[in-house]
Amino acid sequence: MKQIKVLMVGAAFSADLHSDAYARLRDKAKIVGIADKAPERIKELADRYGFTDYEVYDDFNTAIEQCDCDVVDICLPNFLHHDAAIAALKRGRDVICEKPLATTVEDALDMVQTAEKLGRHIYYAEDWLGCPALTKARALVDSGAIGDLVFVRARESHCGSHSPFAQTIKFCGGGCMVHLGVHPVSFMLAMKNNQWKELVALTSGGGEENLIHRTMEGEDWAGAMMKFADGTTAILEANFVTSGGMEDIIDFYGTKGCLHADLTFSSALKGFSIPGFDYTVEKAEVTTGWSNPAVDEKFNLGYVNEIEHFMDCIAEQKEADIGLRGIDGYEALKVINLIYKSAREGIKIVNDELEVK
Ligand SMILES: NC(=O)c1ccc[n+]([C@@H]2O[C@H](COP(=O)([O-])OP(=O)(O)OC[C@H]3O[C@@H](n4cnc5c(N)ncnc54)[C@H](O)[C@@H]3O)[C@@H](O)[C@H]2O)c1
Repeated sequence: MKQIKVLMVGAAFSADLHSDAYARLRDKAKIVGIADKAPERIKELADRYGFTDYEVYDDFNTAIEQCDCDVVDICLPNFLHHDAAIAALKRGRDVICEKPLATTVEDALDMVQTAEKLGRHIYYAEDWLGCPALTKARALVDSGAIGDLVFVRARESHCGSHSPFAQTIKFCGGGCMVHLGVHPVSFMLAMKNNQWKELVALTSGGGEENLIHRTMEGEDWAGAMMKFADGTTAILEANFVTSGGMEDIIDFYGTKGCLHADLTFSSALKGFSIPGFDYTVEKAEVTTGWSNPAVDEKFNLGYVNEIEHFMDCIAEQKEADIGLRGIDGYEALKVINLIYKSAREGIKIVNDELEVK
């Protein structure tokens, strides 16, 4: 099989998640270039995963222009996704793009339409769709094991983003709903093939109107209730007011049973440490006392399967599965912006595009 040549733009947190996957997929992928404004991050990242023979760039535009690659993997702050994707598509490359697809619906649409026009692919990196526990849960639901699915409750939450770019709406596109809620929203849309019918939402007000994060422009608490075309209902939540580590909890309720997934605290390990473990789960403030140190967190959160799927799709020049296509990133961002509209205006939103889909 052809080794896909990958240019990674951005060498911080999400680049680390993707690099772990590339390092496990050496027969399918080769890192040929890494770009970051902070060059020390590039070396640290490459050393951590044993990458060699790659070009170093201090700007994503130069990298996209100069690097001989098949795909540009965008691990940049949200507000740069659009410009990097457009530059890569125009350079004739496919694109892997971290969530959210862009900071505005208009930018996201432009990305999707440009890819279509130029005959290239955007692969939307929604890791929940590569998560083994959720893949299994969906297979069990599809098998009828819990009867007909009638309700899903899903959330991602933690104590606040490490990224300075997550603090302003201009750079991030919103607060916790676009930053974390994008996972439950994208997951649910993928399960239902984007066939949503109506939604209603509440969020904290941002800044002084937030529950905890008063200097953050976007909201630090958000929840949406949704109905889908087949009658399934969902409550989708995100917040930055959760101490103790990142929560990724998904509950499935059917007419004949239920299923509960806990992606971050369901480790096979449980332990007590007085000096503290070196690491337990993402965003845990402390690692002393009782905790559940994660076993292969990056695999269990879905990054390896997600990246492997993209490498296979690029090799065959085909579209990704539902939920992992550029268009799905666009649909998710559209819903998130309607969640914001619903909360802001205190109204229920009905999907008037449903009939024509
Ligand atoms: N799927 C997930 O679970 C997950 C987790 C974390 C972050 N993300 C997403 O990944 C993206 C990146 O977030 P992050 O937390 O990794 O990092 P970040 O936002 O802290 O920074 C990204 C990196 O981009 C670099 N950068 C900025 N401008 C640049 C330029 N012009 N040229 C080259 N490099 C430049 C910065 O120096 C930094 O190292 C965001 O869109 C975020 O939403 C996804």
